[in-house]
Amino acid sequence: MLQTFDERNENIFVFIKNKLYHRSEAKVSVFDSSVQGGDAVWEGLRIYAGRIFCFDTHIIRLQESARTLCFSDIPDFEFIRNAVFKTLEANMMRDGAHIRLTLTRGEKITSGMDPRLNTKGSCLIVLAEWKNPVYDNSSGITLITSHIRRNSPQFLDSKIHHNNLLNNILAKISANGGGADDALMLDDNGFVSETNATNVFMIKNNCIYTPSADSCLPGITRGIVIEIAGSENISCIQRNISLSEFYNADFVFTTGTMGELTPVTKIDGRDIDTVNGRELFMRLNSCFRKLTMTVGELLPF
Ligand SMILES: Cc1ncc(COP(=O)(O)O)c(C=O)c1O
Repeated sequence: MLQTFDERNENIFVFIKNKLYHRSEAKVSVFDSSVQGGDAVWEGLRIYAGRIFCFDTHIIRLQESARTLCFSDIPDFEFIRNAVFKTLEANMMRDGAHIRLTLTRGEKITSGMDPRLNTKGSCLIVLAEWKNPVYDNSSGITLITSHIRRNSPQFLDSKIHHNNLLNNILAKISANGGGADDALMLDDNGFVSETNATNVFMIKNNCIYTPSADSCLPGITRGIVIEIAGSENISCIQRNISLSEFYNADFVFTTGTMGELTPVTKIDGRDIDTVNGRELFMRLNSCFRKLTMTVGELLPF
């Protein structure tokens, strides 16, 4: 599962700070905080049939992450919405697109990690690309467990959706080395946390389980699946889950904006049951599909 270049993205326009630039001109300064220290926060959003799915929830998470990192000038909801609308309109994207929304602490007067060096204000980047879900959701994906642990609040709180992604990138490198699509990451107590890029769920005896959101990102797609379970009267339990429980599940799937709901077929060389829990998975997936058509910010163009 290696993404490839999509020719339709050759001439896209990208919003940076306060205006749009052609892809070839879209750049940030070498003094920008994201270059200097990964000092930025981000969101991935998806566009379905003229709507930005769960837009408000994503913007709240972006702003809360920036507040935790003590950014001094967090753009308000209206500013972000206008920037996103402007970018999507310039690219005529109303469906099948993905937005990488980044807010950096901005440009520094000189290199250094001290946020007091950031005197020019934060920098919003709206990178919208034509991008289909990145996993093959019909055949599923394989995982291996990485030796890299997911950060817990003891080290760096995963509830901050920040650009310091080395933790996840090292895990992804172990997946690449081991010939798997992605890496399963454990928390500092050895329980399953999430993958390097998605949340994880398992189904056992018609009940769904997902790790407590202590070390994993409380993903928006994860939240939607939990809500669907509630409205469909399906029991959903959030607790510590061990690898052994995942190996022996009736079905395992990942969730995320990038890939939606994706079945897992193998973990650490063990075939995962994709039959017993399939019906329940298909039910959750079909409710999710319906929501993508009805929930979110309508595009004005
Ligand atoms: C580490 C990690 N886990 C899970 C997710 C899925 O989150 P969401 O459902 O909000 O896209 C992401 C997405 O950014 C992620 O980076």
